Amino acid sequence: MDENEQYNPTWSAENPAHSEPETRQATGPVNHAAPRSEQNSAGSLQNAASEPYMPPSTYSPLVIAIANQKGGVAKTTTTVSLGGALTSYDKEVLLIDLDAQANLTLALGRDPGRVRGSITDVLFHSATLLSVSRETSIPGLDLVPSNSGMELAERFLPVRKDYETILRRTINDELRPFAAEPSASVRGTSSSFDKNFPVINYDYIILDCPPFLGAVTLNALVAADLLIIPTQPEFFSAHALRTMMTTVRQVRQNQNPELVYRILITLLDRRNRIHRQIHDQIYKTFGESVFQTILEVDTKLRESAIEGKPIMFHKAQTRGALQYDALAQEIMQYVR
Ligand SMILES: Nc1ncnc2c1ncn2[C@@H]1O[C@H](COP(=O)(O)OP(=O)(O)O)[C@@H](O)[C@H]1O
Ligand SMILES: [Mg+2]
Repeated sequence: MDENEQYNPTWSAENPAHSEPETRQATGPVNHAAPRSEQNSAGSLQNAASEPYMPPSTYSPLVIAIANQKGGVAKTTTTVSLGGALTSYDKEVLLIDLDAQANLTLALGRDPGRVRGSITDVLFHSATLLSVSRETSIPGLDLVPSNSGMELAERFLPVRKDYETILRRTINDELRPFAAEPSASVRGTSSSFDKNFPVINYDYIILDCPPFLGAVTLNALVAADLLIIPTQPEFFSAHALRTMMTTVRQVRQNQNPELVYRILITLLDRRNRIHRQIHDQIYKTFGESVFQTILEVDTKLRESAIEGKPIMFHKAQTRGALQYDALAQEIMQYVR
């Protein structure tokens, strides 16, 4: 597109934030989404003390899905970098690769062709997440790898009973020992896992989704407390966001009424006028549903994937590392 062309996206009619409650305050103790108006210029919460609060053990871990049907918008980069940033605050983090391309698995230095257990065993053979998870070279950061077996998931997952809730049931049964009784839609699980003695207390589970809205991404959105939608400030992002908003609305209506979403602007080039315009338009349209943190273009992020490590363990003082650290801080503010 020519830099001088006028850009005029029509997103607002599709934004569920305008018609539906955006926080969990009304229904649960966790406030993931303090309105922007309640934050001071430094981004910290002014009235944190008066907000509903429960000890982390009652809702932990927070499940974050990273999804957008567009490829190349930094879903995988955000999963690995945010996960790495959270471990530097002593958080225990489990990353789950849900994409048959297994880029997350590769980005953490594992060969998808040689992993013994993978997410396919969980989704199709009722394996536990912990039986297929692996420690990475970063303390506190574990990975459930993917492999090409996931290519069959879109075809065979819908054949399974209550397939949309498989991941949610698995996480609740295995890793959320203190979770409230599952809702009617997820009841009926037959796990024999002893809920009172979790093997690992993860603080965050981050789900890296494939670049399309099918059965796998639906599983992630049904399992998630928070959906992060990485969005590049490009012309075609408008269309992708519109589709994402429709999906969010459907998931809230049918399976997960408490799903909160946040848009994360990624791969921003501040010198590009169109990027600046679209960035402003996204803020105007989605307001408080956009993270304050923005990810700018930083080629060091590409290098860190080759290194097999999150950026902050490869080049800690780079722009990408600092911006993902800011994102981790922003997320930790939502969930105290
Ligand atoms: N902020 C950034 N600056 C520069 N390159 C980036 C940035 N974020 C991601 N990339 C690169 O963009 C490409 C696509 O990112 P990726 O995370 O694989 O996207 P997705 O998972 O959405 O398909 C990768 O080569 C990645 O290294
Ligand atoms: Mg990816």
